Amino acid sequence: MKELLKSRRSIRKYKDTKIDREVINHILQCGLLSPTSRNSKPWEIYLTEDKEKIEKLSRSKDSGSAFIKDAPLVVVLAADPDRSGVWIEDLSIMATIMHLEAHQLGIGSCWVQIRGRDHSPSLSAEDYIKEVMDIAENRKILCLISFGIPDEEKKSYTDEDILSDRIIWR
Ligand SMILES: Cc1cc2nc3c(=O)[nH]c(=O)nc-3n(C[C@H](O)[C@H](O)[C@H](O)COP(=O)(O)O)c2cc1C
Repeated sequence: MKELLKSRRSIRKYKDTKIDREVINHILQCGLLSPTSRNSKPWEIYLTEDKEKIEKLSRSKDSGSAFIKDAPLVVVLAADPDRSGVWIEDLSIMATIMHLEAHQLGIGSCWVQIRGRDHSPSLSAEDYIKEVMDIAENRKILCLISFGIPDEEKKSYTDEDILSDRIIWR
């Protein structure tokens, strides 16, 4: 596991190749095996390969989302907040598991923060995405995750990169 974690990096450049549907389903199913508070499973996964929708999603916010324009697949991680008061934690765990499983299979991915971000002064990134993806108004959105076959190489982390001084025994 440590070696997998060292080589996992955020990948923002993708080959113009679709990801096999079985592979997509496998990654999503791994996400759906995530633990949740009180086993509440508040998550909903919306996803698209539609280039027009992906282009719109790439304009979700001013910075940090433009790169997904050329991703072959974008996932929206959403939650029904009535199912869980800690849906942020539940979705974050799911996102992490999907990143790691994708990486294990040679698929690159990157988290794009949505919760708390604005599309424009009068529209949150969350509400913008709900419109683009036809998501019910009462849902919450944590992030987008782009997936694709990597078209960039990034260095793995080494043991020297690990901030071991953040481990504080008392
Ligand atoms: C909560 C969270 C929000 C992030 N938001 C964005 C984002 O909006 N856009 C982006 O390009 N990367 C985003 N990232 C990716 C980080 O920039 C990246 O994980 C960090 O720079 C470390 O690089 P690495 O993932 O390659 O180790 C986010 C990551 C996390 C965990």
